[in-house]
Amino acid sequence: MKDTQQEKPLWWHKGIIYQIYPRSFQDSNHDGIGDLNGIIQRLDYLQWLGVSAVWISPIYPSPMADYGYDIADYCAIHPLFGTMDDFDRLLEEIHRRDMKLILDLVPNHTSSEHPWFLESRSSKDNPKRDWYIWKDAKEDGSEPNNWLSVFGGSGWEWDEDTQQYYYHAFLKEQPDLNWRNPEVQEAMFDVMRFWLDKGVDGFRVDVMWHMVKDEELRDNPPNPEYQEHMATYEKLVPAYSTDQPEIHDIVAKMRQVLDAYDERMMIGEIYLPVHRLVTYYGSDNNGAHLPFNFMLVNQDWNARTLSLHIDEYEGAIPPGGWPNWVIGNHDQPRITSRVGYSQAKVAAMLLLTLRGTPTMYYGDEIGMRDVPIPPEEVQDPQGLNMPDKDLSRDPARTPMQWDTSEFSGFSDTKPWLRLPDNFRRVNVEVQKEDEYGMLSYYRRLIRMRQEEPALHIGDYVPVITKGSLLTFIRKHEDRQYLVLLNLSHRPSLFRPEHANYTGTIVLATDPEREGARVEQNISMSGDEGILILLD
Ligand code: GLC
Repeated sequence: MKDTQQEKPLWWHKGIIYQIYPRSFQDSNHDGIGDLNGIIQRLDYLQWLGVSAVWISPIYPSPMADYGYDIADYCAIHPLFGTMDDFDRLLEEIHRRDMKLILDLVPNHTSSEHPWFLESRSSKDNPKRDWYIWKDAKEDGSEPNNWLSVFGGSGWEWDEDTQQYYYHAFLKEQPDLNWRNPEVQEAMFDVMRFWLDKGVDGFRVDVMWHMVKDEELRDNPPNPEYQEHMATYEKLVPAYSTDQPEIHDIVAKMRQVLDAYDERMMIGEIYLPVHRLVTYYGSDNNGAHLPFNFMLVNQDWNARTLSLHIDEYEGAIPPGGWPNWVIGNHDQPRITSRVGYSQAKVAAMLLLTLRGTPTMYYGDEIGMRDVPIPPEEVQDPQGLNMPDKDLSRDPARTPMQWDTSEFSGFSDTKPWLRLPDNFRRVNVEVQKEDEYGMLSYYRRLIRMRQEEPALHIGDYVPVITKGSLLTFIRKHEDRQYLVLLNLSHRPSLFRPEHANYTGTIVLATDPEREGARVEQNISMSGDEGILILLD
């Protein structure tokens, strides 16, 4: 448990973030790829749904080797997505609806076609040579060290012209910037200012824990837990290529850039264990406002495991730090495909009742599933580079399913990734009419969270239970909610041992239960979640 320190909660404490993968949300210009005007057309939907902020994955000029995470110009818009005027209008329309816009910032690497890299690779004595990580070969001509690329193979690429290797944590088309160089830092801070001056409300910072590397570029140690089915990157523990102590000074500097403006925020994408993750809040909270917490994405879907991890996370957050929770994103299988449709409802209740800012992924609110993509249609480089490992992220990036028309209202032409066979059933239009469907359920949960301070800023109090139930209380002043979630498909009995809870069910996965009084033992169906307002 932790007291709520925020005297005056800001929008990102209270609000709900909705991630849009822009290629797949809404096409407006008939090319089968989503764009900014498409997003504008759907803002009324997002307002109706009740979310507070939109985070949009990269929309900048890019050769699209990694679908926009390889940026060739940080301060412009890719023509596929529209123009800067379209962007300005998007921002204005979002603000007009009292919502916020979070942009994706990718500071770890540029595209190999970014002018900075073109200069850097042009000669060894180019002033921008040191903007990237260049290194001589070892005497035998091999790579400077054993570092691997997340997307398979070596992390080093040989440059024939200048006879050195450069480092890329991801694709060779995504060379890593050298964040030890002050000019690189200043250049990226200017990028941040460019968008902040326009009025964007924050950034989701891509692979924040990768940004600084060991100064001596020491070899990474082997991973004793590696198994064949895992990505080849996992063969080593990235002890020297990620999460270096110097990162915190850099993050603090980025934070200073934001702090020169009102109420702007920074989320860090960080895949690390809890004790390392929380260091990204910075000393005295001078780091990321929200270091992304991927526990609900990574941990086994098991009540005991999750409940332990939730308590551990709550206990690890530094004073003044604010928690957050993520249910899915463009790099992970969708929640429905991971835990099943019925459990996805339980997951939604968990996401929207925990203490901390929730981030949901487009389409989860209608229960979109991972769409099987035939091998010849795979687009994602992670899938293409390691075809035997089933790592393609395409299945979770398919077009939003809006209605029953030929391309589900996403586009009027064949979309860049295929739709699932069931899109005529699973879509926004159909589900709007179904008061028992996923969409209605999500919308009610969202509204409940938005309206009830106990749920958005209240304290978290663990409630000890056994078996398949995950239980906790949220409380603020005299309002207390008991959250009961059954993470199994089979019924279970909530039998409190140390307290007697009486109250009224205000929201349930089966709405028929709502309004009922409960006291003492509470029987739960399989895959059931209930929210009880305690007396
Ligand atoms: C982040 C992004 C992912 C991208 C990678 C490289 O993990 O979420 O989509 O491929 O960074 O930029």
